[in-house]
Amino acid sequence: MTKYYFEKTSKITVEFISHKKKTRVPAGMSIFDSANWIGLPIESTCGALGTCGKCKIRVLEGQSGINEFDVKFFTEKELKEGWRLSCKAIISQDMVCEIPQLLGIPKASIMGFGRHVILNPNVHKVYLDLKPPTMEDQCSDHNRIHDALIENGFDVQLPLDVLKLLPSILRQSKWKITAVVVGQELVKIETGDTSNRCYGIAFDIGTTSVVGTLMDLNTGSSVAISSTLNDQAVFGADVITRISYTMTHKNGIGELQKKIIKTLNTLIKELLNKSNISNHEIYEIVITANATMVHLLLGLDPEAIGVTPFIPVLTDSYKLHADELNLKVLPHAHIYFLPHLGAYVGADIVGGLLASGIVQEDALRLLVDVGTNGEIILGSKNGAVATAAPAGPAFEGAQIKDGMRASEGAIESVRIFEDKIELQVIGDVPPVGLCGSGLLDVVAQLRMIGFLETSGKFVKSNNINTKSSTLFQQRMCTDNDGVQSFVLAWPNETGNNKQIVLTQRDIRELQFAKSAIAGGIEILMKKLNVNTNELKNIYLAGSFGNYINPVSAIVVGLVPPIPIDCIKSIGNSSGEGAKIALTSFRERQKVNKYENIVDYLELSGSTEFSDTFMKLLDFPELNKLNLDMN
Ligand code: FES
Repeated sequence: MTKYYFEKTSKITVEFISHKKKTRVPAGMSIFDSANWIGLPIESTCGALGTCGKCKIRVLEGQSGINEFDVKFFTEKELKEGWRLSCKAIISQDMVCEIPQLLGIPKASIMGFGRHVILNPNVHKVYLDLKPPTMEDQCSDHNRIHDALIENGFDVQLPLDVLKLLPSILRQSKWKITAVVVGQELVKIETGDTSNRCYGIAFDIGTTSVVGTLMDLNTGSSVAISSTLNDQAVFGADVITRISYTMTHKNGIGELQKKIIKTLNTLIKELLNKSNISNHEIYEIVITANATMVHLLLGLDPEAIGVTPFIPVLTDSYKLHADELNLKVLPHAHIYFLPHLGAYVGADIVGGLLASGIVQEDALRLLVDVGTNGEIILGSKNGAVATAAPAGPAFEGAQIKDGMRASEGAIESVRIFEDKIELQVIGDVPPVGLCGSGLLDVVAQLRMIGFLETSGKFVKSNNINTKSSTLFQQRMCTDNDGVQSFVLAWPNETGNNKQIVLTQRDIRELQFAKSAIAGGIEILMKKLNVNTNELKNIYLAGSFGNYINPVSAIVVGLVPPIPIDCIKSIGNSSGEGAKIALTSFRERQKVNKYENIVDYLELSGSTEFSDTFMKLLDFPELNKLNLDMN
């Protein structure tokens, strides 16, 4: 990183040396949650309440204070050696930790955002030590297995291709076999006792990137994680462009389907290589994605999603076999798609709901997945409303003069003092441009030091306080058309070779984006007849949401002003939802009831939305936000 400053929301590196993994997290997160984000299996049976003592880790470098929970579980010597309860160890600086090996197989796992999930996958492995046939016992091979499975509580049919292999497997294995049952279907017979090897994959298919997590279904832990760009990106950056492609090209749907299947097979190969697991040991795959991505993977026509009244072919959960999509796992493996709530509140946000537990608790919470299409859900177990707000591509760095995606060289965080400016850049490289979180930060910081009016316009130099006037003179510039810009980096100032600026137009783009999301939130709050004071938490989800500085989000008016500590980044909540649905059939069933709990509100064409959008374009008055800036 080029320069660094520490405040509540700076990103901190945590390295888990025992598992050769690193992650970057916001300060204030627990070590337990940070490990969970990257799929490391820290054991717990108390739901991270600090009472079971299972989540022990050792801090090797960096500080984590000793709290009242630690003193109950560790001796003085152990505390000195760095042992802590990871669920109560708060991260405030870079650290290196060690997670001891799991001692036993947990029956529950912490997933999503602190959800305590009971493991009961849809995949069952049943070891059968069958009696060999005799002249007195001439039961058929089929009936021998079928009867044994019924004794074990599984009344399933044996498909023809399993039957074909049966005689040789039974005799080679000396009648000791493991039946693999997924749902109500027997999908495979394996030789000997393989019940300790049981795997599935959770995929989160985003419009831009795809993440796969190979899960051990016996323990609920992640075995391997891989991600890559969605191969469909060559057909357009957003869902509307891809839908248009299918409408204007004869075999467009087929082309896009092939691309995403290729992406998934690439990830499957990578995951298997990382984990020494065979493709025929993957018995189930759970997929979360937006409605358009699901349609394109299934080869369904997405055209009606793109035009009013926005009707998808499919919104319910859906199941098929891997060979029907040519996915390179066990051919009879089940592929399960989570349901959608609407054309633009898809299975990805349903996954987020599952991971955050919003509709399973009493407290009123708001979940916002900030992106080109900002998905928003507000509610509790007593009822919820969801919508999608057309934020546009500003948060992705598009339409911004020096904007870029959040990749190496992107300024992801900005802090402006009265006499200097500090940039946090992704990777150990000079800054190249500004990504969404950096854009949000710089605008918020300029508001806070008085360089921007509530309307979003740069103030005149004579309205700048004397302490900041030097910075104003140094950093404000005006082009030939009289348009003002704020210079974040002059050429060569921090090793960069080009000037990086924030223009008046960039600020307007940000205002459009934030106003769309803030407008969606306001309409949902009206619909539930609730106010900001009743909001217990705001969860920011998605790859961008993960890096938003909550203070900046409040200052620009992206989210309602609630105490900063109540705003949480919950990471890739969609992918976490897929993992939960894969490892817990009970949780998966809850998702199918969401459509009875969550009302979907379409904003397109709504005059209430356009009025609210216009009203919220200005930035909030700072003195009404009650912010603690320290
Ligand atoms: S998870 Fe139980 S004590 Fe930390």
